[in-house]
Amino acid sequence: MSAPFKVLALGGDHIGPEVVVSGLAVLRQVADQFGVAVEVDEDLLGGASWDVHGTFCTDAVVAKARAADAILVGAVGGPEWDGIRIDGPITETDGLTRLRIELDVYNALRPARAWSALLPRTPYRHEVVDGADLLVVRENSGGIYYGEPRGREVLSDGQVRAFEISEYRTQEIERIARCAFEAARGRRGHVTSLDKSNVMESGKLWRETVERIGRDEYPDIELRHLLMDYALFAVARAPRDFDVLLADNLFGDLVSDLIAVVSGSLGMLPSATLPAAAKAGHPVKGGLYEPTHGSAPDISGQGIANPIGTILSVAMMFEHGFGQALAARAIERAVDGVLNEGLLPPDLGGVADTAAITQAVLRRLRQDTS
Ligand code: IPM
Ligand code: MG
Repeated sequence: MSAPFKVLALGGDHIGPEVVVSGLAVLRQVADQFGVAVEVDEDLLGGASWDVHGTFCTDAVVAKARAADAILVGAVGGPEWDGIRIDGPITETDGLTRLRIELDVYNALRPARAWSALLPRTPYRHEVVDGADLLVVRENSGGIYYGEPRGREVLSDGQVRAFEISEYRTQEIERIARCAFEAARGRRGHVTSLDKSNVMESGKLWRETVERIGRDEYPDIELRHLLMDYALFAVARAPRDFDVLLADNLFGDLVSDLIAVVSGSLGMLPSATLPAAAKAGHPVKGGLYEPTHGSAPDISGQGIANPIGTILSVAMMFEHGFGQALAARAIERAVDGVLNEGLLPPDLGGVADTAAITQAVLRRLRQDTS
């Protein structure tokens, strides 16, 4: 038997650890059912790390993450730590961001689809959303999040000036464009690239570069460009018209929350953030898998968080981290089955708690392959 896949689980804060418990239960069972050997280690991230170590992400966690085949993250942050002021880049003030940079996971894949059982939970008419299936490919290690200089200063008139810059280099755009085109090849063959090339220099370079990569390397993929403001309207109005949405770090952050509307709740959305393009049959080592939602301090400790975003992130881990697409499909089928049973968490208008949903997914998985 080959060496086990090493998984590092970082629950983070508030509902983060609650949903990671669910994710790990699914991970262990599916690994068992599909004969995949996994070895799990757990550690702290975010406020939980701050409270113990005085930093949001320790060097030891970075070293473990570098050695891992896949990292499962819950969610980080909360009001307890909001007031902590640290001078310096965002990698010092946000543990998850440090991890993303240290691992150079630039390819954030954030899918959202309409689940038939959840159509009535969306604000859409059935015929507008039924069948919607979107993938945001978000550049995740550059742009305005990390441009230098950034900071704040007190001006001579007493005002405070705070600033950051949006910058992209050709190669950063080329590599994420390829990720989007590769993803589109495994889907419906359509990429929409989002930018503000009408006002931003980095947006102009973005559009030219994506256009060139598409023309020279992916003539089989249909590419169109939309300005980000109009794109938000167009995606919200007719989500079924879109397949892959390619965006920079900031715009990708925004549009990935927007597409959650087709699923009915942010709690449904998984993500995989990889240090390479995802290609079928080529497992990528060192990817970060996390639900798109935040740490939801308002509901933490009650055991009612929706674990499905994390469970679907584990499905993405099987597919992209371990090269086990069939296991990923089995997890998605189990989730679909549970939703069809009418077992819904509070964010989708139901009363099922985290443990009940997790148990139901595990039960469906056992029934599926046995
Ligand atoms: C996300 C989050 C993060 C981001 C925050 C928590 C730094 O919103 O992963 O979408 O802005 O990238
Ligand atoms: Mg976000």
